[in-house]
Amino acid sequence: MSSPPTSFRRLPAHPGLPLVGNTWQFVKDPLGFLRQLQARYERAVRVSLVGRDITVLFTAEDSRQVLQENNRNYQKSEAYRVLAIFLGNGLLTSEGDFWRRQRKLAQPAFYKQRLALMADMMAQQTQQLLSDWQTHDPAQPRNISADMLGLTLNIVTRALFSTDVGERVAGISAALDDIMHYADHALKSFVQVPLKYPTPRNVRFRKAVAKVEAIIYDIIQNRRQQKIKYPELRYDDLLDMLMDARDEETGESMSDQQLRDEVTTIFMAGHETTANALSWALYLLAQHPDVAARVRSEAHEVLGEAGVPTFDSARRLTYTLQVVQEAMRLYPPAWIVGRRALEVDYFGEYEQPKDGIVLVSPYLLHRNQNYWDRPDVFDPERFSEAASKARPSYAYLPFGGGPRLCIGNNFALLEMQIVLALLVRAFDFQLLTSGHHVAPEPMVTIRPQGGLRLRIRTSFKH
Ligand code: HEM
Repeated sequence: MSSPPTSFRRLPAHPGLPLVGNTWQFVKDPLGFLRQLQARYERAVRVSLVGRDITVLFTAEDSRQVLQENNRNYQKSEAYRVLAIFLGNGLLTSEGDFWRRQRKLAQPAFYKQRLALMADMMAQQTQQLLSDWQTHDPAQPRNISADMLGLTLNIVTRALFSTDVGERVAGISAALDDIMHYADHALKSFVQVPLKYPTPRNVRFRKAVAKVEAIIYDIIQNRRQQKIKYPELRYDDLLDMLMDARDEETGESMSDQQLRDEVTTIFMAGHETTANALSWALYLLAQHPDVAARVRSEAHEVLGEAGVPTFDSARRLTYTLQVVQEAMRLYPPAWIVGRRALEVDYFGEYEQPKDGIVLVSPYLLHRNQNYWDRPDVFDPERFSEAASKARPSYAYLPFGGGPRLCIGNNFALLEMQIVLALLVRAFDFQLLTSGHHVAPEPMVTIRPQGGLRLRIRTSFKH
């Protein structure tokens, strides 16, 4: 606990309705409501959502206190329990010593040397999508969200499990959609019908979980029988590592259930977020042809006309990285990160009650005008080295922070740089002129509502 100030007071509470508090305002327009709060209160505010007492933080300093300096006073909030119905006791949802041990086991799979070996595969997967695009009729819009989801799904399964999901991409995407809708509904409802009752939503959710689970078990089974592993791969993947891991004291290996939880977590956490970030980046590039032209000329300069990125050359795609970072500033896939206070804490003179939920919001921090000049404007120059250094570190948190920082952050950045450079080198992206309004839909992640459709055309320099 941070030491109590000599005098402290209660956090301001935002007015709401009897019984439902601020739930309705939040559910109707979560991002708009959060921004209204940010405009009205300086440091933090208390709201009542779905019967829960929640503190929304607005400053980088307090966000750092929760995620880093005083992280031991905080556990993941109830929202993660909803995810745990599906993800079990995997890295994202577990706590304490158990989490620490699992994190230690999984971490080496994300070391730089390993990522270096994966760059080639990331590029190959992107080239495959590009060859589909070559035969696409430019007069027809392309469903970019579906393409990005398929691509990142193939990359994460190849990289971490050395296999792919082949024809099952569409089925997995649909299952993922049902799971996200269930989680979203569960988080926003006062009363939830227990899963054992066969309501249409529950049935859809259970079927979706069963579908993804069957694929995961299939991957594990195949590995146990050593049936599928691409011979050209030169690394042990995460699945190898998790299967080979032994408890330091007992020497025991991971149970099938734990293996399932870890694999499902990486599988889910590792692709939907990245797919959304890429879709948003392409959406922004379609609106800013000058920026797209710079990304394209960087790709030509660093990779040549037809060169394939390697780990080292990808690191030289610095402007592309700035574009990725700026896209995640405006549309951070993980837009809120929730924690529960185990004991009383203090944000300056304000008292955070024990057991209350605290929301750190990358979305709000990224649009806070104390840290960003004209925060709603897309401008990759914000991520030049000098500008990045001049900002408080917790003003930009697309991957969270502290010990629970996203384990896949470098993986995701490398992947997004490679994918974006290859796509933009070969294609131009245009918004549809009518009938397709793109709006952010904040569910578990922020995605383009109804999917992003763009017109794509072979780039003239290619
Ligand atoms: C743009 C892409 C991504 C974004 C924006 C993102 C965001 C995040 C955030 C904000 C957290 C922290 C959640 C919290 O503190 O409660 C997190 C955790 C996590 N992410 Fe990511 N992520 C991305 C990509 C990935 C990838 C590619 C993987 C794996 C291949 C991955 C695996 C995980 C795991 C396992 C955790 C839990 C880590 C732990 O608690 O030890 N993520 N991610």
